[in-house]
Amino acid sequence: MSLQLTPIDRAKYAAARRAVDLVEDGMKLGLGTGSTAAWMIRALAARAQEENLRLTCAATSNRSADLAAELGLKVVTLDQAGWLDLTIDGADEFDAELTLIKGGGGAHLMEKIVAAASDRMVVITDASKEVKTLGNFPLPVEVIPFGWQSTRMLIEEMLNAMDVMGTQATLRMNGEAPFVTDQGNHILDLGLGRIGNPRQLSLALNQVPGVVENGLFIDICDAVVIGYGDGRVEMRDIASGSVEHERIVFEEEDNIFRDI
Ligand code: A5P
Repeated sequence: MSLQLTPIDRAKYAAARRAVDLVEDGMKLGLGTGSTAAWMIRALAARAQEENLRLTCAATSNRSADLAAELGLKVVTLDQAGWLDLTIDGADEFDAELTLIKGGGGAHLMEKIVAAASDRMVVITDASKEVKTLGNFPLPVEVIPFGWQSTRMLIEEMLNAMDVMGTQATLRMNGEAPFVTDQGNHILDLGLGRIGNPRQLSLALNQVPGVVENGLFIDICDAVVIGYGDGRVEMRDIASGSVEHERIVFEEEDNIFRDI
């Protein structure tokens, strides 16, 4: 496996494997979206099969639901699951307070709803996503298609009064057509450069008519698991302030690598 995967993939896998150790029999889980979350779903399915765990999963996107079901996990809607014990998801940026930017994969609306409906949210990531100040990664904002250009103008005008460096909102495309989320909406990516006050910005964005949800996750994430290409993992818990270091051993015969 170490020959086939890039160091970033190995880092993502290491973080995913450590986070899956937090899962206990009988849990209701939220499954994130993205490449790191896909590693987690594979590791989770392998562990569930080996240990015969009874798990109920609610996914944050159609693609994560499909992957999980394909690998034999029980997938239900969030409404069928009710309250969740734990959600494990990736992020595009995180800071020292574990405030996140999410939505690079276009799923932050469902990701925020699922994470907010969980006792605990754990982010899995490689070290490159850690930043001092959020905003280098364009902030995704999900908007309804009706009148999206007016929504964009209102957002750009509002950004002039915010503590940010840039104000440009770009419609995300999928080839020649606007990108469409699982909820049938569009995404505006905000080139902010730097977000001085994430809380103020998040509140202001969600007040603009047409905005469904922005990609800032504030006071939602409880812990982060940072993986490295050599298998080291660091787990930081925001509430207890604890930091744990471990090492994941990569085994080529792991079930999850069979189809990769
Ligand atoms: C999906 O909409 C995002 O929030 C992802 O969780 C985020 O983009 C991280 O993705 P990767 O794990 O692919 O980097």
